[in-house]
Amino acid sequence: MSIDSHYGDNLQQQQALLSQLRSACPDGADAWQLAPIDQLHSGGLQASLHLRDTLAACLAPQPAPRILDAGSGAGGLLRLLAQLPGADVTGLDLCHNLNRLSLALCQLYQPPCCLTQVSGDAQCMPFASDHFDAIVLQHSLLNMPKPDQALDECLRVLKPGGHLVLHELVQGPAPSQMQFPVPWARGQEQSHLHSHATLSALLQARGFQICTATDLTAATLAWRQRQDSRTEAQTLRLTPALILGPDFPLMFANLLHNLRHGAIGVMQYLAKPA
Ligand SMILES: C[S@@+](CC[C@H](N)C(=O)[O-])C[C@H]1O[C@@H](n2cnc3c(N)ncnc32)[C@H](O)[C@@H]1O
Repeated sequence: MSIDSHYGDNLQQQQALLSQLRSACPDGADAWQLAPIDQLHSGGLQASLHLRDTLAACLAPQPAPRILDAGSGAGGLLRLLAQLPGADVTGLDLCHNLNRLSLALCQLYQPPCCLTQVSGDAQCMPFASDHFDAIVLQHSLLNMPKPDQALDECLRVLKPGGHLVLHELVQGPAPSQMQFPVPWARGQEQSHLHSHATLSALLQARGFQICTATDLTAATLAWRQRQDSRTEAQTLRLTPALILGPDFPLMFANLLHNLRHGAIGVMQYLAKPA
């Protein structure tokens, strides 16, 4: 199955989902309400808020930063980034149906937001060189078979002195414990995880200097465990299964297994062109 099918097949008919959202939220939906379908990564909305704040601190003196989210999914992080003062935000994703959903969710979002959504491959980006002040990849490099090409493209489209933030799953110390399906892949052929050491070496080899590398594995495991004990307070029946299909509970259980048994880890990197 292609990556486009994995994320997009259940979104060919989006009208029912959008009508349900519009009638449940006539005055618009906020980031917390949309999180079950637009935060398609481990750590949920909290992880995106942390990432946005990390980036905001780097961009602080910049009046109108151009920011790219490469592999933006349903746009949860994009909408948070669009709230940064003066930010000009672009999402790039391979999956056209997710991009359609992201734009539709922008119409519903409170506070109102404005952003650009582009369908394309982060390994061959449709952008001019030296264009962006910052690029984020949040759980998207994990689907890319050519991470070296994706990082070369980041370096090309990033302005000198720009910032790259990666919030990614990495291969853990016990990769043989890995169980599929997982939310980002039905099988090994769609999953492209690298160890922290390999990814760090790759970033440096492709021309980046790593400013910080934060291990979020323990915090993410705690987040994932909290999900099981959560009492369902949401009035909307939103779940990632609307995007990932009826196997989602098994995928989510495997995410917990893989974190617990050291098959995967979670890292956030802040890097700059060397
Ligand atoms: C696990 S989802 C994460 C989505 C989003 N970043 C989030 O955290 O909610 C991975 C996303 O990466 C996108 N993706 C995978 N390979 C890609 C590529 N080569 N170029 C652009 N997007 C890609 C997928 O379509 C999907 O939307």
